Amino acid sequence: MKGEPLPAQSEGDINSTPLRAQWQSQHLDAASRALLERDNRVFLHQSVSTPCLSPIVRAQGVYIHDMAGKRYLDFHGNNVHHLGHGHPEVVVAIKAQLDELSFAPRRFVSERAVELAEALSRRFEAFTGHAGRVLFTTGGSDAVEVAIKLARMVTGRYKTLSFWDAFHGAGFGASSVGGESLFRHSRMGPMVPGTEHVAPFGCYRCAYGHPVDAQGQPDLQRCALACAAMVRYVLEREGDVAAVVAEPARAVPFIPPPGYWQAVREACHAHGTLLIFDEIPTGLGKTGRFFAAEHDQAVPDITVLGKALGGGVMPLAACVARADLNVAGDFALGHYTHEKNPVTAAAGLTTLRIIEREGWVEHAREVGAYALQRLRELQSRHPLIGDVRGRGLLMGIALVESRQDKRPAKAAAERVLSRCLSQGLSFKTTMGNVLTWTPPLIVSREQMDEALDILDRSLSEELRAA
Ligand SMILES: Cc1ncc(COP(=O)(O)O)c(C=O)c1O
Repeated sequence: MKGEPLPAQSEGDINSTPLRAQWQSQHLDAASRALLERDNRVFLHQSVSTPCLSPIVRAQGVYIHDMAGKRYLDFHGNNVHHLGHGHPEVVVAIKAQLDELSFAPRRFVSERAVELAEALSRRFEAFTGHAGRVLFTTGGSDAVEVAIKLARMVTGRYKTLSFWDAFHGAGFGASSVGGESLFRHSRMGPMVPGTEHVAPFGCYRCAYGHPVDAQGQPDLQRCALACAAMVRYVLEREGDVAAVVAEPARAVPFIPPPGYWQAVREACHAHGTLLIFDEIPTGLGKTGRFFAAEHDQAVPDITVLGKALGGGVMPLAACVARADLNVAGDFALGHYTHEKNPVTAAAGLTTLRIIEREGWVEHAREVGAYALQRLRELQSRHPLIGDVRGRGLLMGIALVESRQDKRPAKAAAERVLSRCLSQGLSFKTTMGNVLTWTPPLIVSREQMDEALDILDRSLSEELRAA
């Protein structure tokens, strides 16, 4: 990869555009500016991280509050806030665990870590039919590395196959299977060898040129799942790929066409390749099922979870693998300092308990379906919306300059985001033009309506200003 970074799912955030300064001039007070200036001076700058838009002082439930006193519905939350920010029960469990046992040095184990691993193993088995074994890490990127190392150990192969445009974390292994130039630019030097890529599924912008109908649906008779066929083709040609590494529903977001994962699963079986699902942002109910892959009736050999697993408070991720892949006992797959930390485990256990006890997965499915229906209605009135797609509370609204040629309306997307922020709604844009909504599972129908109304108004303002 040479030259400038290409459009990526991480691209286009208001943090990195001239609109940031304009927005700040309208909304920030002197104290906010002073803190932003300190942030700007002390942190290494990197894309969509520093410089920042605004300092926050409070995060509770669906809302974040900035220093200038503005409240935002947080429809981004880095996907950690399934239970909302600062869930009181999670916070109490963390505090209690701190009083009881705050760390488990290597060679020792805490009951909390075992309990959480057992709970995830049960969940994995209920879905895949295989008991699971678990390794914890502090971040998702590390858990992806563990999964890849394990796949190499199990298969005796080193190659992987993954998607262009995907993000799997910032470590070298994770960046190598990722497909975003922001993270794997040639100036960063060579990536891990054997990390092959294919074009991902993404029907509205099918890499194989197949059209979709007015509802954004593919004609499967015509395209014959060319995207899945390409995965099979590469696995066959290479013949020695250890694992396919992918998000079952892409975070951009793109939803797989029916039959996609079943076809890939079969191809993996046929070629002795393991299937690793990265469910770091989409697992634990975001898509309206506990595992996002449950929608597709294709079971992975290894699943990676993270983000919301720590209750939106603690950094925690997990690699959950079929128990019969437990072949690396004499080697180190992860060995992370906080691997069996009782405090992060307490946060994880409490999170799982609340999600199950209060039926948040079903709630996400219902509110998500309602929102999608309303978004389709907005699409019928706003020509800027080229495509609406989603599953549960993972939603994408693709803005285009014209529905005919689908040219991405990147500048308009930035302005719409800016208008929404001004009216108290925060979300991210992906690929520059896709308004990406990932509200917490606990979002109410009223809060969803409020967000939809803000979007509706912002799109109308954009049309009037154009
Ligand atoms: C699909 C996916 N995989 C992996 C990661 C990396 O997780 P972390 O930032 O915890 O390392 C992310 C983070 O956004 C992600 O979205």
